[in-house]
Amino acid sequence: MLNCAILGARSHTGIELIKILLRHPHVRLSHLVTGQKQALPLTQVLGTLPKDVNLEIRPFRFAEIQKKADLIFLCLPHTESMEKAAAFRKAGKIVIDLSADFRLNSWRVYESWYGVKHGQKELLKEAVYGLSELFRSKIEKSDLIANPGCYPTGAILGIAPLLKRHLIDEGSLVIDAKSGVSGAGKKLKPETQFCEVDENFYAYKVGRHQHTPEIEQALSEVAGEEIEVSFVPHLLPIERGILSTIYLQKKKSVKTEDLQKAYLEDYGQEPFVRLKAPGTYPSLKDVQRTNFCDIGLFCDEERGQVIVITAIDNLIKGASGQAVQNMNIRCGFQEEEGLRTW
Ligand SMILES: NC(=O)c1ccc[n+]([C@@H]2O[C@H](COP(=O)([O-])OP(=O)(O)OC[C@H]3O[C@@H](n4cnc5c(N)ncnc54)[C@H](OP(=O)(O)O)[C@@H]3O)[C@@H](O)[C@H]2O)c1
Repeated sequence: MLNCAILGARSHTGIELIKILLRHPHVRLSHLVTGQKQALPLTQVLGTLPKDVNLEIRPFRFAEIQKKADLIFLCLPHTESMEKAAAFRKAGKIVIDLSADFRLNSWRVYESWYGVKHGQKELLKEAVYGLSELFRSKIEKSDLIANPGCYPTGAILGIAPLLKRHLIDEGSLVIDAKSGVSGAGKKLKPETQFCEVDENFYAYKVGRHQHTPEIEQALSEVAGEEIEVSFVPHLLPIERGILSTIYLQKKKSVKTEDLQKAYLEDYGQEPFVRLKAPGTYPSLKDVQRTNFCDIGLFCDEERGQVIVITAIDNLIKGASGQAVQNMNIRCGFQEEEGLRTW
């Protein structure tokens, strides 16, 4: 059995991780950790558990975790992960960080978009970007996996097959994405309170959302050249899910079949990417509480316009589900283990 610790166990992503790992046949939850001083029963934060689960969420004790845990999940706000990741890597543990602290290769880019200092610059070289479908062979060998952001997961999976084969005009990428409120985490903010969100819909951080450089970095790696995107996030008055509508311009000679073939070649064998039949498009209800990314494609051959629509659950494929998928890849388990919701 693999002993796993979760730091930030009371977070949105931590709770989802616990639910997934409790049904994982090769995992034992050795430590559930809070930044608070008091221990509390897991049932107090996860009311859906059966009576015989006696786990506790406890204050952070490095020595205890280091002694027993093999793999550490960090479900902490960005900047809070840096020192913890460094300490656990030094102790020889596998670290999967759900925050943004190790996603960007360049600390300069990180500091300019996040507005804080990066305290572990050297460790960035060791980190592998954990978008499972695209970077599996690197994830297999990595002890520091930077789990992708929720918006980037849906956007990158939607665009990568077309960019990789140079089927679209690289300068014409527009990502119009809408997320449920759980994407903003648990901290109280005026703009995510019920009265602001209910019966409302609005764009935020236009042109300055911190996921922009992450999307551009991964797409540039896939394309083999510098890629820039226009990315506009919106807040939906729902709990969870991200629907991204991506507007592209195809190259002149490219046909609809070429686009369809690209997705089939890349994702036909992927357990968690589902391609919609022509003329049908993803819906959040189909992916909520699952690790699926659904992709639908429209192409107007005459006008050259391509529209790709992707849907994911921000807390599962956009966070904890993908983190478990990455753990499965890294530890040699079957990739669907713990993630079968069907
Ligand atoms: N929400 C999403 O859809 C999503 C998707 C992908 C990635 N992520 C990333 O995953 C990480 C966790 O996100 P989340 O939404 O699950 O977080 P969250 O619900 O806001 O919870 C964060 C947890 O971190 C702990 N914490 C430790 N130090 C803290 C500090 N200085 N300030 C505030 N909290 C602190 C708190 O636990 P205690 O109170 O028990 O100490 C808190 O419950 C973040 O880096 C986020 O960007 C989130």
